[in-house]
Amino acid sequence: MEAPALPRAMAAAAAEIDQALEVLLPQAEGPESRLFEAMRYAAIGGGKRLRGFLVLEGARQFGVSRQAALRAAGAVEMLHAYSLVHDDLPAMDDDDLRRGKPTVHRAFDEATAILAGDALQTQAFSVLAEEDTHPDPAVRIELVRCLARAAGARGMCGGQMLDMLAEAAGEALDEPAIGRLQTLKTGKLIEFAAEAGALLGKAAGPQRHALCLYGRDLGAAFQIADDLLDATVSTAEAGKRTGKDAGAGKATLVGLLGLERARLQAERLVAQAKTHLDGFNERADLLRMLADFVIERRN
Ligand code: IPE
Ligand code: IPE
Ligand code: MG
Ligand code: MG
Ligand code: MG
Repeated sequence: MEAPALPRAMAAAAAEIDQALEVLLPQAEGPESRLFEAMRYAAIGGGKRLRGFLVLEGARQFGVSRQAALRAAGAVEMLHAYSLVHDDLPAMDDDDLRRGKPTVHRAFDEATAILAGDALQTQAFSVLAEEDTHPDPAVRIELVRCLARAAGARGMCGGQMLDMLAEAAGEALDEPAIGRLQTLKTGKLIEFAAEAGALLGKAAGPQRHALCLYGRDLGAAFQIADDLLDATVSTAEAGKRTGKDAGAGKATLVGLLGLERARLQAERLVAQAKTHLDGFNERADLLRMLADFVIERRN
């Protein structure tokens, strides 16, 4: 029997993204080749490629060339891989398993992991800025600007700061504060991934906005699902250490509301995410299915 449409499409996209990353992150010779090795170890051959898939599917709505979309997808996945390498460091979540293999600081060392994260981040911006990504420099600048905002102090890094502060303070955050933390640490990058195809395709404002809103709700549901998986799924299934958040004092909706209410909240967000696609035709069906996948997934 043929595999259902979404898993098939995600697997095909993941293979294409890996091929793109092979080109965007080539092996290097010379004394610093260890750094390239660590970058490739972190970025290639693993992960669900959810953010890259979002870029590709968003781009497909507007007839963007596959080559351009894959470059943007690769850039987002490099940025995401950097965030994971740093998130796993001893100074942050102190994890030794990621995507079913030792984390970068375990497989290499801490200094190499910090540098590999740094260099993955700069490589992401470099790829977006290059002409092959889009012939119009204004589009390239907009991609760079939006990714920088999504990843920086008012985006992913800001959210990671709130996550670490909440853990250190050992005080429970209320629901709005957890929502804000999660919007920043996870939501902003997923929102950018959903928007990037519209930027590449010079989509009309309302369509770009609709994809942003879809990405925002999807991102919020995604982090709640991640927190649910931490509490419910084995380390072997997740490919990363689970069962840690509660003991570490992480501020999560699961901790605040319990499994059932957190799951209901994620389901509500998924339904809401799909309503933002109402103005799109059946070409957006994979994006609709992706919304359901976000909370049904097991890793
Ligand atoms: C994990 O992201 C980090 C979070 C933001 C929750 P993913 O679950 O997308 O990780 P990979 O890319 O599939 O490994
Ligand atoms: C990580 O959130 C978010 C970022 C990397 C920005 P988590 O710390 O919950 O992610 P996992 O569970 O380690 O993948
Ligand atoms: Mg973390
Ligand atoms: Mg973590
Ligand atoms: Mg987690």
